[in-house]
Amino acid sequence: MVKYISSNSPQYFAFNVWSIPSAKAVMDAASQLKCDIILQTSMKAFQQLDIEEFHAYVKSYSQKKKINTYLHLDHCRTLDWIHTAIEYGWDSVMIDASDKPLDENIRLTNEVADLAARKGVLVEAEVGQIRGQEDEISSVEAGIARMEDIDRFVKNTRIDMLAAAIGTVHGQYKGVPNLHYQMISEINEITDIPFVIHGGSGLSDEILSRLLSYRNVKKINISTEVKLAYKCGIEESICKNGVEKSGFDPLVINSQIHTSIQNMTTNKLRLLGRTS
Ligand code: 13P
Repeated sequence: MVKYISSNSPQYFAFNVWSIPSAKAVMDAASQLKCDIILQTSMKAFQQLDIEEFHAYVKSYSQKKKINTYLHLDHCRTLDWIHTAIEYGWDSVMIDASDKPLDENIRLTNEVADLAARKGVLVEAEVGQIRGQEDEISSVEAGIARMEDIDRFVKNTRIDMLAAAIGTVHGQYKGVPNLHYQMISEINEITDIPFVIHGGSGLSDEILSRLLSYRNVKKINISTEVKLAYKCGIEESICKNGVEKSGFDPLVINSQIHTSIQNMTTNKLRLLGRTS
């Protein structure tokens, strides 16, 4: 099977979604721009969704819209769930053993790589620790991956995508993001494995474009901004008096949420500067 991400594949944004409507809004933006896309499920979403129904919907809707949509399991810490995602047709999985000592991270990652390879599923893994918005700046810096660890990791694992902490955080940024851009080039010197940027929400278009200027950056993850667009859609529908004037109409709210997520997605995808 063809690897959808490789050293010579296009670059992608990967959007975290939690339901069929949120997936549809992202896919509508992608199809309008004739752009292939990655939909990610967090562990929480994966555990709550009817994954068989979700998978069937995503694949049939993207076929109808004539785009490729790849399903990715985000930040999974256990082999059991990775197994389930592979069994139900997810195209790629992330094993996140970044909180473990490096050797253990390598061992677990290879276990997943063996499992995934049998089904042609791609594997992402993480070195260093990408922190969250709740963490202090000093902790974000402490989580930055060491180049020697990255080197050892990529030489001893069989992964298709590498995530390494370079200063981005999950969630909203406190102050100005401090990204270690030179690490992306240094990583490219030691490996041609596609590099994944986590914590894409809250980065300006300039920063995202700069990240995309590195040819080894193949995937930028956006989660918080999808949720914020959802919230914004609700707020806008209330502001527009859709609720009060016409009585309570879930269709008005649903449509506003859809538009809000679709517009946010479109704005990100335009940064890819391609139409297919
Ligand atoms: P954000 O929530 O900051 O967009 O991060 C997304 C992400 O990296 C998911 O793995």
